Amino acid sequence: MTEAYLVAQDLHKSFNEHKAVDGVSFSIEKGEIFGLLGPNGAGKTTTIRMLSTVLEPDSGDIIVGGYSVRHNADAVRNLIGVCPQELALYEELSALDNLVFFGRMAGLNGKEAKAQALSHLELLGLKERAKGRVDKFSGGMKRRVNLAVSLMGHPQFLFLDEPTVGIDPQSRNNIYETIEALRDKGMTILYTTHYMEEADRLCKRVAIIDGGRIIALDTPLTLRSKIGPPEQVTLEDVFLRLTGRSLRD
Ligand SMILES: Nc1ncnc2c1ncn2[C@@H]1O[C@H](COP(=O)(O)OP(=O)(O)OP(=O)(O)O)[C@@H](O)[C@H]1O
Ligand SMILES: [Mg+2]
Repeated sequence: MTEAYLVAQDLHKSFNEHKAVDGVSFSIEKGEIFGLLGPNGAGKTTTIRMLSTVLEPDSGDIIVGGYSVRHNADAVRNLIGVCPQELALYEELSALDNLVFFGRMAGLNGKEAKAQALSHLELLGLKERAKGRVDKFSGGMKRRVNLAVSLMGHPQFLFLDEPTVGIDPQSRNNIYETIEALRDKGMTILYTTHYMEEADRLCKRVAIIDGGRIIALDTPLTLRSKIGPPEQVTLEDVFLRLTGRSLRD
């Protein structure tokens, strides 16, 4: 039997009168890449912020690695890494110094932080640029540093919020390969994107979210099979069929 690493139960979050997340439940198995897919404003980031202890839900329960986010947020923080949708880097520092800084914030000593930083930069194909200032990097390289930051402290669970948005194909492929390598080493990952073909490639299961509610949840193949011959149908088609709207509307 597979084991749930994360359980989200009936999460609700409103901003003023607007229901950003409206009764979201799912669980993520240990070692899987789980995709949260949906258009702009669907509630993906709000969900991630609640799951990663940044934002308190109005109601609902979250368990990560056996710990309750409500009662034991510190224990949850020790297990997770977060790659935020907005880049969170010090532009005037080098890639290496950024990683060392965030590693120290995560409680690593200087030597360990540097060793991990170099290893993560190598994984992301940035070893040669370790000492380069981030403000001189391309958008794709910055995204890769942002992902490397989330690996500091060797988390067991990663939240990746649109890690490939607006980047060049080389960085995109590097990020895909890194995520697959992490998964192969046993990492559990929640991945948000509005690129459906990414989710199809990377995710074992996906939840499609729209208007703060999950409207479908299954393997990409099963979702595609429900509306036609799976080799002729994309997850974009699934979204269109379920909502009557295109993803990019
Ligand atoms: N701090 C906030 N204050 C007010 N409204 C917010 C806040 N955060 C999110 N919202 C609103 O909640 C809804 C869901 O936003 P969220 O950022 O979770 O969507 P998303 O699926 O991540 O979208 P995107 O693909 O654009 O990143 C949106 O209507 C957004 O405007
Ligand atoms: Mg978002």
